[in-house]
Amino acid sequence: MCGIIGAVSNSNVLPVLLGGLKRLEYRGYDSSGLAVINEPGKFLRLRAPGKLVELERAVSANGEISGLTGIAHTRWATHGPPTEQNAHPHISGGRIALVCNGIVENHEELRTLLTDEGMEFQSETDTEVIVNLIFLHMDKGSDFMTAVRTCIGSLKGAFALGIVNADEPGRIIGARRGSPLIAGIGEAGVYLASDISAMIAQTRKFIVLENGDIADIRQGKIEITNLDGQLQNRDTRISDLKPQAMEIGDYRHYMEKEIFEQGQAVSDTLEGRITASRVLEACFGTEAERIFDKTENIQILACGTSYHAGLVAKYWLESVGMPCQVEIASEFTSRKHPTPKNCLVVSLSQSGETIDTLTALDYAKHCGYAHSLAICNVPDSSLVRNSELILMTHAGPEIGVASTKAFVTQLVALRLLSIIMARKNSSSDLDEADSIRELRELPANVESTLELEPAIQEIAQQFANKQHALFLARGIHFPIAMEGALKLKEISYVHAEAYAAGELKHGPLALVDQDMPVVSVAPNDAQLDKLKGNIEEVRARGGKLIVFADSETRLSSRENLQVINIASVESSIAPIIFTIPLQLLAYHVALIKGTDIDKPRNLAKSVTVE
Ligand code: AGP
Repeated sequence: MCGIIGAVSNSNVLPVLLGGLKRLEYRGYDSSGLAVINEPGKFLRLRAPGKLVELERAVSANGEISGLTGIAHTRWATHGPPTEQNAHPHISGGRIALVCNGIVENHEELRTLLTDEGMEFQSETDTEVIVNLIFLHMDKGSDFMTAVRTCIGSLKGAFALGIVNADEPGRIIGARRGSPLIAGIGEAGVYLASDISAMIAQTRKFIVLENGDIADIRQGKIEITNLDGQLQNRDTRISDLKPQAMEIGDYRHYMEKEIFEQGQAVSDTLEGRITASRVLEACFGTEAERIFDKTENIQILACGTSYHAGLVAKYWLESVGMPCQVEIASEFTSRKHPTPKNCLVVSLSQSGETIDTLTALDYAKHCGYAHSLAICNVPDSSLVRNSELILMTHAGPEIGVASTKAFVTQLVALRLLSIIMARKNSSSDLDEADSIRELRELPANVESTLELEPAIQEIAQQFANKQHALFLARGIHFPIAMEGALKLKEISYVHAEAYAAGELKHGPLALVDQDMPVVSVAPNDAQLDKLKGNIEEVRARGGKLIVFADSETRLSSRENLQVINIASVESSIAPIIFTIPLQLLAYHVALIKGTDIDKPRNLAKSVTVE
């Protein structure tokens, strides 16, 4: 969840470190810090609790900070609160500085061992055991690399490390076990970072470190070995990330920008994947046809918003005769379960680095699940590299912590998968050409739904003083209500829960009064009459309803019921369309509440701890 950037350059690395941290801040933002070697044997370190702007202030207040080698870190606290003392880099013996993304599971045991050796700790973090252990090995005579290797050999957990030795300017050692780490090769320097965005202003050329890799990074040379010192060959890749795709432009927040990019993101995700009447199976990978032909059921694994996309897909897949289970990734690993025959594991993730999803995929493989497909937005991510079949969503970089365009493009990708599965099932009555036409019309439908913004902005006022909200829907739109509730709580801190509308009378109806806004989505589908009944149950108890309704439903506003009409769309794409007003509602409520929309408290974009 933390972000790492390191650089060895032929000019001052400070701008590279600060620029890199800015792009990595989405990974964690409760404190940050940097250390540069400003002369051999001497570190300059600055750390600050709070957002990156606090570190930038500290840098300005400190006058000249310069050096040709440095590391920096933006933190999402796990062990120890976000104080200056707990911020990275941690330094041991004045010689070794280290940044870490991950968790050392045996830190207590190592802390005792190091304390017995007379070492003192300055922080409450698990990370400090690593830097102290490396220093201890060096103090006992090991060279830098040997000390790092020996230390890593005694660590339990998942992590990515960036380490510098004050006595060896011009060198960074990076190590990966679990958490993502890449090394970059530029004109002016070499780099180490959690992802390519951090170094995109310097270079597009990078190497993805694999689990177990240790990278010895020096100007003009990157050598990768394993724990035993054996050389590892890793491909050099060229990123196609466009720096302007990460610019906020005229928008107030990345989330706003990303909501409004959804029409384009849908088009980009469809491009090259469909003809006029067919989904191209090969876009899932060269083995797709063989694997899909024998798939008898599907297990979807994901977390958070991606999990909600999986829940929508269950309705689509089962409607074409493909049995489908969806499970929160962190729960999937919590028990033994029978392994279904010829089951395709579909893992969904925006980042491709969510440790719960990666662990669940590993567990599924271990349990003997037949095949794997990743639907992901980040090329070269761990999930992509660990899956047999891949369908990249082309949402473009998503910076706001609250996922929006990644979700919508995941739905598009899952719709494509459902269409293929329908084709394989002779008893499915889904018309492929019709489904393709509906998808082709989707970007325009997304754009016109975004025009509801002024109406939604007004409705958002009603939430200004509210502490709680209920979201109701039926059928395939229940996961959309769940996603709407997640968006609202995530960025506005209004407590919001989604219920299947039929469940209301089984308990949550007791919560309904005039202070509990109830949001519902009403597509024109087979569930409509029952949903109308549930809406009346709320009204009869004085509840105030806000309903986003397909214009064909003929629902109209009256006392305690405010209806916002949405242009009628085909039911197959309705869940995608009904997502949009709920995103806008959450955004505008958060705007009124004045929260930090792109960086909501306590959260991070890439969740790399279990
Ligand atoms: C979404 O708004 C959340 N920030 C979060 O639930 C997210 O979807 C979840 O952590 C999974 O992330 P992933 O898609 O990158 O795996």
